[in-house]
Amino acid sequence: MLTINKLNFNNHSNLVNILLVIILGKINLSNTEKQNVLFICVDDLRHLAETDVLLPNLMKIAAKSINFKNAFAQQALCAPSRNSILTGRRPDSLRLYDFYSYWRQTVGNFTTFPQFFKENGYETFSIGKIFHPGSSSNFSDDYPYSWSFEPYHPSTEIYKDAPVCEDPFTNKLQSDLICPVSLKEQPGQTLPDLQSLEYAINVVKRRSNKPFLLAVGFHKPHLPLKFPRRYLDKVPLNEVNLPRFPYMPDDLPLVAWHPWTDVRKRDDIKRLNISFPFGEMPQRWTLKIRRSYYAAALYVDDLIGQLMSYVNLNNTIVILTSDHGWSLGENGLWAKYSNFDVALKVPLLFLVPGYQGRSVSTPVELVDIFPTLLDLTGLSKNIPNCNHNDNSTLCYDGESLKPLMKSDTTHRRDNKYAISQYPRPSVYPKSDTDKPRLKDITIMGYSLRTNRYRYTEWISFNNTQFTKNWKLLYGLELYDHQKDPDEANNLYLAPKYKNTVKKLSMILRSKVGV
Ligand SMILES: *[C@@H]1O[C@H](CO)[C@@H](O)[C@H](O)[C@H]1NC(C)=O
Ligand SMILES: *[C@@H]1O[C@H](CO)[C@@H](O)[C@H](O)[C@H]1NC(C)=O
Ligand SMILES: *[C@@H]1O[C@H](CO)[C@@H](O)[C@H](O)[C@H]1NC(C)=O
Ligand SMILES: *[C@@H]1O[C@H](CO)[C@@H](O)[C@H](O)[C@H]1NC(C)=O
Ligand SMILES: *[C@@H]1O[C@H](CO)[C@@H](O)[C@H](O)[C@H]1NC(C)=O
Repeated sequence: MLTINKLNFNNHSNLVNILLVIILGKINLSNTEKQNVLFICVDDLRHLAETDVLLPNLMKIAAKSINFKNAFAQQALCAPSRNSILTGRRPDSLRLYDFYSYWRQTVGNFTTFPQFFKENGYETFSIGKIFHPGSSSNFSDDYPYSWSFEPYHPSTEIYKDAPVCEDPFTNKLQSDLICPVSLKEQPGQTLPDLQSLEYAINVVKRRSNKPFLLAVGFHKPHLPLKFPRRYLDKVPLNEVNLPRFPYMPDDLPLVAWHPWTDVRKRDDIKRLNISFPFGEMPQRWTLKIRRSYYAAALYVDDLIGQLMSYVNLNNTIVILTSDHGWSLGENGLWAKYSNFDVALKVPLLFLVPGYQGRSVSTPVELVDIFPTLLDLTGLSKNIPNCNHNDNSTLCYDGESLKPLMKSDTTHRRDNKYAISQYPRPSVYPKSDTDKPRLKDITIMGYSLRTNRYRYTEWISFNNTQFTKNWKLLYGLELYDHQKDPDEANNLYLAPKYKNTVKKLSMILRSKVGV
């Protein structure tokens, strides 16, 4: 008996060792089985139709991806949108509508998605522009909370608005909007996105027994439209079209308009003396800007293609998106700063090992990225939805898109909506209408996108209490995308749409809350 006991004991001990080896082996195994995440965020890249310009690498990725064709940003401005994507919370939940507050200091110690991956065994990297730099990410890109390593910023980023564009009219170096360059003559003989690409490739190629979450933020096609000159040759000017509806719509409430000051103030545009706030861009320049925007998009497309050639798609989830869209003269508007579809709509691609490529037309939101990533990687299944103003550190406003990824269009979700918002300091356009500071915001435009409609209410907003008054209205908009994809006809007064307005208003108010 005793020997047997002893033997048993010894066996048991061996068993523990064997189990330990297996468990440890399993941990290593599960580490290598854990999927990497590559999050590519392109700055100000609108949803480009193939009729605008062919982006060959994005098309190649899209063909293999779940391609969300109706994906919308929460606010068409960099800092609010990026903080919203990264925390999975709406601008209202972060109380950030400008560039000047850091949620951990002002609202709550909310977890970001890179932080969650970092705390769950991932090495997390930030390259280029992921968080908006400055006070909205505490001048540190939320390091060390979100990132395992200090975020990488290309050294030539400091020249982003410098007078380095060779102006064809003045023959001087200026801070132009349209800025094709030769690398040889640029400071450092390179550009920020080229430096970011090189750094990103090295991260992908690194050897480590931990999986990575790599966030790569390309700067272009954000203004100025600065890119190696050869990309301009790929977009012949005679193949560029004007927008179908380049005018301010007749029935547009004034509060929906913005004077695109960032475009006006560039040296080449300033010279055109366009009257403030309603002057129109000359047609020739509309074509030139559209051409340069496409060329800048082609440049980034090329860099993305190069990066993708290093990525092992067997064990990496790739998400490609942008912080918001960009108006290219539609409705007489330029840049972001609005609640129009072109300013809010972004590419959203999920390339997931084991999933087949398909398109999804259901409207989705960038706040959905966080819960979707957790769902796809299986990192956590029990994180709750935030109710309005929920202050727990881990919850999110969006929902997982995984159910939409495997089902076909017959399972389209008709009760899924995208909610966006934009603040204004006044009804009449002023110099700070595009980017009002929190203390000057008096109006908030809340916008609901369904499969068919875009419906917007501009209401009174209290910038210290963060309350809204749905009874104090400054403008209403209804666009029927089935008939009017350009959002040129505001139908909110059309008798035929009376019930639609009533229904959409109810949904919008219940989704946004009081
Ligand atoms: C398992 O991972 C640990 C650290 O994570 C490492 O030290 C060890 O060498 C790995 N073992 C194997 C068999 O790879
Ligand atoms: C915020 O959360 C982080 C990560 O969980 C933690 O390290 C830090 O102490 C928290 N800060 C505060 C002020 O609670
Ligand atoms: C923000 O940065 C400052 C200065 O580096 C630091 O003292 C402070 O703790 C940071 N805030 C948070 C919430 O980490
Ligand atoms: C713009 O105004 C300046 C100064 O008034 C004038 O010299 C210039 O010719 C104007 N340019 C155009 C394109 O009208
Ligand atoms: C990915 O998986 C395929 C099919 O199993 C295999 O042929 C290929 O070698 C794998 N690629 C890498 C980089 O692991």
